[in-house]
Amino acid sequence: MNSRETSGVRLEPWGEGDLPLVEKLMGDPVMTAHLGGPESEEKLAERQERYAKLGDSGKGRMFKIVDEATGEAVGSVGYWERTWRDQQIYETGWMVLPAFQGRGIAGAATAQAIELARAERKHRYLHAFPSPDNAPSNAICRKLGFTLLGEVEFEFPPGHFAVSNDWRLDLSTAA
Ligand SMILES: CC(C)(COP(=O)(O)OP(=O)(O)OC[C@H]1O[C@@H](n2cnc3c(N)ncnc32)[C@H](O)[C@@H]1OP(=O)(O)O)[C@@H](O)C(=O)NCCC(=O)NCCS
Repeated sequence: MNSRETSGVRLEPWGEGDLPLVEKLMGDPVMTAHLGGPESEEKLAERQERYAKLGDSGKGRMFKIVDEATGEAVGSVGYWERTWRDQQIYETGWMVLPAFQGRGIAGAATAQAIELARAERKHRYLHAFPSPDNAPSNAICRKLGFTLLGEVEFEFPPGHFAVSNDWRLDLSTAA
């Protein structure tokens, strides 16, 4: 495969056995460079619990991004509820392991997650809050039809405040 070829990916619900993937994503210094740095073992275990239970809570969904050719988990994408400026919104976020970056996987997986959120007809707006210097993530937002509302002070993960871009997609309009 050449480096810009898009591999086929599918989304699978986050499972009980997916702690190793959380560790590779949120426990890694490079992966978390824009996300407040690697989390402790305790925080990673809490995050694994949250991801596995999110679907049943009715407050969002978290997915593994799976390479269709190999069945390998290559990243994460999801959406979850947040109160933002006194409104209930969905927030989305995505991560792809370094060996699989640069092939359009995050964009393709996020497009699938958007369609799932849209089909719920639950919240009108889906926001993404990438760091302004996270070029690939800002490119994904632009490509998938989000509108840039501006820069905001944003907390992620809990306790870590940084300037983020506020991108918003209207799920009530056709894709
Ligand atoms: C952000 C991340 C998920 C991107 O994953 P990816 O699978 O490599 O992304 P894609 O291949 O779908 O490409 C994203 C877009 O960014 C563009 N891009 C990549 N690097 C870029 C750069 N340095 N400058 C400008 N655009 C860039 C790509 O060209 C692509 O756009 P295109 O499809 O129009 O060509 C991945 O780098 C990652 O996991 N980073 C760490 C975690 C993180 O920061 N997550 C985001 C939190 S909001």
